[in-house]
Amino acid sequence: MIVLPPSEVPTLRAALLTWFDARGRELPWRQGVEGRRDPYRVWIAEILLQQTQVVRGRVYYDRFLTAFPDVHALAAAPEAAVLKAWEGCGYYARARNLRRAAQLVAAQGFPETYVGWLALPGVGPYTAAAIASLAYGGARAVNDGNVRRVLARLYGEAVPTEPWVQARADALLDPVRPGAWNEAVMDLGATVCTPRSPRCGACPLALWCAARASGQPDAFPAPKVRAAVQDVQAVAVLIGDEKDAVLEERAGTLLGGLMGLPTDALADGGDAVAVLTRLCARLQARPGPLLGQVTHTMTHRRVTLYVYRAHSAAERTSVAQAALSRLDQKALALGRARQDSLFAEEVE
Ligand code: ADE
Repeated sequence: MIVLPPSEVPTLRAALLTWFDARGRELPWRQGVEGRRDPYRVWIAEILLQQTQVVRGRVYYDRFLTAFPDVHALAAAPEAAVLKAWEGCGYYARARNLRRAAQLVAAQGFPETYVGWLALPGVGPYTAAAIASLAYGGARAVNDGNVRRVLARLYGEAVPTEPWVQARADALLDPVRPGAWNEAVMDLGATVCTPRSPRCGACPLALWCAARASGQPDAFPAPKVRAAVQDVQAVAVLIGDEKDAVLEERAGTLLGGLMGLPTDALADGGDAVAVLTRLCARLQARPGPLLGQVTHTMTHRRVTLYVYRAHSAAERTSVAQAALSRLDQKALALGRARQDSLFAEEVE
């Protein structure tokens, strides 16, 4: 590990900011004067981007802002409408927290400091630092995966701890342009100092980078040992079609609060048809054929749904009006694929 001499820090900052001014990404939430952006827009973007890549985040951001253009619209919206606008973004607790926090902001006004933001539901140190710096010019360094990787490489630290990253990030933060500095590190991490095959030839920090000097930049930071993903299986029934189907509200931490196809858990090695029979008895439905299986991986769980058709007179819900998880959207698409193929067979 090399120690970056403090006398070099101003030159290094200038190099990264010059690069950012020329090559930083143009993103919808970056409109506005540096350090004086609309806090609502920055806030929504930062919450969305915690779980979504920028490319997809842009689409969700536009959709959310169209639905709720300002904090008053969000505060006044029913929870179901907020979940609907959040559809596909995962971690629905974040959408619920956003709405609760919007109600506080609508009543009290926007906080203007890091500490003020931190007090709102769903706002952690990362988001508070991002909003404080981007919308208010506050000198707060963000610390996320990109920042961790950039700093681990710059200093040649294979096992960067959280306090280590925060201390380095705080020390390097540009005091005059903290918001631009934070986004410059994010952009460098996303476009140049990438997890694999970093483009060191294009890096404005290459001159100071210990990982580059080691000849193995992508060995930093060392991979984290990940907790195993748990496999979960369930049987689901599609009663209706991909536009109108019998939906139930899911309970529990996994996708809780969202609507989805009726399901019942399937034990490892269990009998799917027995579960289908039990599920259909509960729904007073008649079981039909297997449509297929879909798998969706979340942070800690990989869920496989065995999707069967079933028939009943129960009331259907308009899929377009309901907040559904991506898992359920995949399951509904099976119904469509099946209908398409049946139609194709008929035409032939
Ligand atoms: N990821 C998280 N926040 C971001 C931002 N403001 N710009 C680009 N990527 C981000």
